[in-house]
Amino acid sequence: MEQIHITDVSPRDGLQNQQVAVDTAAKLRLIQLLAAAGVQSVEATSFVSPKAVPQMADAAELVPLIASRLPALRTSVLVPNLKGLERAHAAGAREIAVVLSATETMNQKNINMGLRQATEVSEQTLRAAQALGLRTRAYVAVAFDCPFEGETALDTVVTLALRMHGAGAGEVVIADTIGSASPGMVKQRLAAIAQAVPRDQLAVHFHDTRGMGVANAWAALEAGIRRFDASVGGIGGCPFAPGAAGNVATEDLVLMAERSGFATGIRLDGLLDAIDFAETQLQRPLGGRAITWLRRQRDKARAATG
Ligand code: HMG
Ligand code: MG
Repeated sequence: MEQIHITDVSPRDGLQNQQVAVDTAAKLRLIQLLAAAGVQSVEATSFVSPKAVPQMADAAELVPLIASRLPALRTSVLVPNLKGLERAHAAGAREIAVVLSATETMNQKNINMGLRQATEVSEQTLRAAQALGLRTRAYVAVAFDCPFEGETALDTVVTLALRMHGAGAGEVVIADTIGSASPGMVKQRLAAIAQAVPRDQLAVHFHDTRGMGVANAWAALEAGIRRFDASVGGIGGCPFAPGAAGNVATEDLVLMAERSGFATGIRLDGLLDAIDFAETQLQRPLGGRAITWLRRQRDKARAATG
């Protein structure tokens, strides 16, 4: 079976926008459960302004805990600028992700910079991270539609993906921030982006606002993409992008991929343990589109083994 690579972004994208406070020990526990389920790579936190995103204020405490408890886990952290990189490096992070949006307004709302400055800062941050020996990813956010400016120009997305690749990003992550893409758009846009960035250095990051997340992931698979972001239980959403619902659920993506002949290395029953735990923390029901069926399967398997 051909392997696909999934980065679970629930500790960062999933927890950055929650009303309920989740403490550092619980974040570590969630990440341990993900690793126990076979997840090989997580986006653990972000080094952003604690005024902008108080939910991620404990990043400098969390990163060393993960490094000591789960040394083999590939752990990325989001940084918006050089200050974030400096803080991440001081905490021992080994992989960073910069976040560049493909419209003027989204950059302003998210990181208080215009498109031009955000592009330059992302390039500088990527280069500085490589000089420190870190692995790098670069998000190109609102790559389909922007909540403020409508449909994003494909030319801009391609140009920014190329610039991030040129600045040495190990992975360029094409992100559907508000979950507005459809499989046809994914096919068309990825074909154009893949002219600029090799497919094996592209990843996709879908939100599932309109129930298209898994269909979009399938379109990306058919377009030759093998790197996916997803969030266990489908939690997620950018606090600065109105209408952004959760990410495509890791359990839905794993189910779709494995039933379609792709290996993920991830066990669904392990993901259910992580979802159960996240529900106790967030005090509400979680899970992607397949959650009821998945839990029923688990109950049946448990009943069968006594
Ligand atoms: P700013 O106010 O313009 O920053 O914020 P500044 O450079 O003017 O500095 C103001 C203060 O912030 C200073 O402190 C700086 O030191 C501090 P003061 O002197 O007032 O005490 N500061 C920082 N502190 C901690 N970490 C930093 C940092 N940088 C400056 N890295 C800034 C600019 C980018 C910091 C702010 O707007 C910010 O933190 N934004 C948060 C953005 C964010 O986290 N968004 C959500 C993640 S993106 C997302 O979810 C989309 C994604 O999932 C993909 C998709 O779905 O599309 C990735
Ligand atoms: Mg996101």
